[in-house]
Amino acid sequence: MNKQAIEAVIFDLDGVLADTAHFHFLAWRELAQTQGIDFDEAFNERLKGVDRMASLDLILRQSSRNYTHEEKQVLANKKNQHYQQLTATITPADLLPGARAALEAVRSAGLKTGLASVSKNAFFILERLEIRDCFDDIVDAAFLTHTKPHPEIFLTAANHLGVDPSACIGVEDSLAGITSIKAAGMFALGIGSANVLTDADLVIPDLRHFLLNDYAVN
Ligand code: BG6
Ligand code: MG
Repeated sequence: MNKQAIEAVIFDLDGVLADTAHFHFLAWRELAQTQGIDFDEAFNERLKGVDRMASLDLILRQSSRNYTHEEKQVLANKKNQHYQQLTATITPADLLPGARAALEAVRSAGLKTGLASVSKNAFFILERLEIRDCFDDIVDAAFLTHTKPHPEIFLTAANHLGVDPSACIGVEDSLAGITSIKAAGMFALGIGSANVLTDADLVIPDLRHFLLNDYAVN
């Protein structure tokens, strides 16, 4: 593999840096149950990295009834209120293992750090985790047109950082996120299981295994 100098690492938040993916799962599962829709971890994999309304659409597609735009808005708000309750008291102890060390390693190597999360709660979560200052750029999901797997969010981060996508590593725990990174032309580092994140360039179980020297960009 040809090694090209890496200039930036762009991290996803939920399930990569923060132990919040489980809270999204719990909140969606409860909402699905109120609608009589089965919801399990396998289905949840399809929602990871997908924004709130698109996730709700995927869930409601399992129902035999149709929902109006207003009904969907109410359900999305309910899920979000529940998620906000679950995350209201998180602390830096809810950083995933290796997360802070990985951010620090990137910065001390002189590379730029970006955050690419489609979560509209991302700024709040970063404050709670006390890592907001660790980033050179945080993409604001409110200004995005497309959710992952579209590459918009990773391309926006690279653009804000002033780095060519081919010199970026994207770090993701979701199928949609890995597709987004690859479509953006970046090296895709998966966090989790290689059996799930089949399109990633490399998969590590968590950020304790993050070693900058291991990565190559085509
Ligand atoms: C992603 C999560 O980071 O953010 C998804 O992986 C979540 O599970 C999405 O649905 C949107 O989050 P929010 O906080 O805007 O509802
Ligand atoms: Mg994620």
